[in-house]
Amino acid sequence: MRVLRALLSSASVGKQVDFYSRFSPSPLSMKQFLDFGSENACEKTSFMFLRHELPVRLANIMKEINLLPDNLLSTPSVRLVQSWYMQSLEEILDFKEKDAENEKANSDFTDAVIKVRNRHNDVVPTMAQGVVEYKEAYGTDPVTSQNIQYFLDRFYMSRISIRMLLNQHTLLFGGKVKINPAHPKQIGSIDPCCSVTEVIKDAYINARNLCDRYYMNSPELILDEFNVKEKGKPITVVYVPSHLYHMVFELFKNAMRATMELYGDALDYPPVHVQIALGNEDLTVKVSDRGGGVPLRKIERLFTYTYSTAPRPRMETSSGTPLAGYGYGLPISRLYARYFQGDLKLYSLEGYGTDAIIYIRALSTESIERLPVYNKSAWKHYRTIHEADDWCVPSKEPKDMTTYRSF
Ligand SMILES: Nc1ncnc2c1ncn2[C@@H]1O[C@H](COP(=O)(O)OP(=O)(O)O)[C@@H](O)[C@H]1O
Ligand SMILES: [Mg+2]
Repeated sequence: MRVLRALLSSASVGKQVDFYSRFSPSPLSMKQFLDFGSENACEKTSFMFLRHELPVRLANIMKEINLLPDNLLSTPSVRLVQSWYMQSLEEILDFKEKDAENEKANSDFTDAVIKVRNRHNDVVPTMAQGVVEYKEAYGTDPVTSQNIQYFLDRFYMSRISIRMLLNQHTLLFGGKVKINPAHPKQIGSIDPCCSVTEVIKDAYINARNLCDRYYMNSPELILDEFNVKEKGKPITVVYVPSHLYHMVFELFKNAMRATMELYGDALDYPPVHVQIALGNEDLTVKVSDRGGGVPLRKIERLFTYTYSTAPRPRMETSSGTPLAGYGYGLPISRLYARYFQGDLKLYSLEGYGTDAIIYIRALSTESIERLPVYNKSAWKHYRTIHEADDWCVPSKEPKDMTTYRSF
């Protein structure tokens, strides 16, 4: 009986997924996020927007989960993640017919949003675990690896965007007061006047503490600011400080680890040098280390999920945060940068050191969510049989040119 009910329910969820995946997600700009949180916006507006937009974003990505290789889909971890998505979709859809004027409906919705957010807390490590299990059991070929990378980038990006919506709603309407006493100027998770230096210093201090724990020492920080728009003034931007923090914290950990590994027991370590520049279009943060760098051939690999040169930390240990080892530091940080139309790039001078650069849009009108959409071209990505490379593969043996005589 229970099995039958589960089957019926999953069939009806399937129909809802089909229905909602036909809509494209609606990307919001930083300005729209701020308007939602401003005085004349209300819980009701947010409720009405989210009860449609959340199912759309969930359904779009659920369609892509279904395109993963069967052997990956059937791992317990991926099944678990899928069940969370189905459950959350159903819970949000329960509000489809509710009266938006009704106060109880609004507060029930806010509770549901909090529940959904908590349910999805461990999506990233669980999905990653599924991929590890799959790779260990079946190995991988380049095509599958490429598909998984394509999927995870879109899947994690979708998750960042869904959490942004959930967070804004709960931060603005979940508590008794709209204003967060710790960050009175923030609109939900957005700071209209985010001090870039402050966030960077904060991330540096926390990364340094970790580094001190592992290596008993740590490199110093040198920080330069170039405000080209308003000379001499501190650089600020409309941004989500926690996203900026996440990115620079990851870059600091990497820069420190590379430096400490290269200099071993030296008493002095070359500092990590950060430059922040604000121009008309870009806000750029460059984190430079002298940790020996990475050869160009390997740079792309650093952005693949689960690639790490550090020993894999054990998830269940309580010995605190590891400095490195899961290998999602760079790929997830790049997603945060891209989420609001920025980017994250790595340039290395092998033998010397690495520059990691975060690009953020200086203008809040240009900071618009970058969202994956499920459509024909996404579908094709998973289904195309990749043909042979259209560039020559250099062979070890030089060809005997006499057989290629020109006429
Ligand atoms: N600044 C750097 N200098 C040298 N190697 C780096 C640097 N940043 C990243 N790497 C390499 O990239 C790998 C992946 O980095 P990351 O995605 O942050 O995962 P993790 O730090 O968990 O290994 C690291 O294990 C390291 O080998
Ligand atoms: Mg790292």
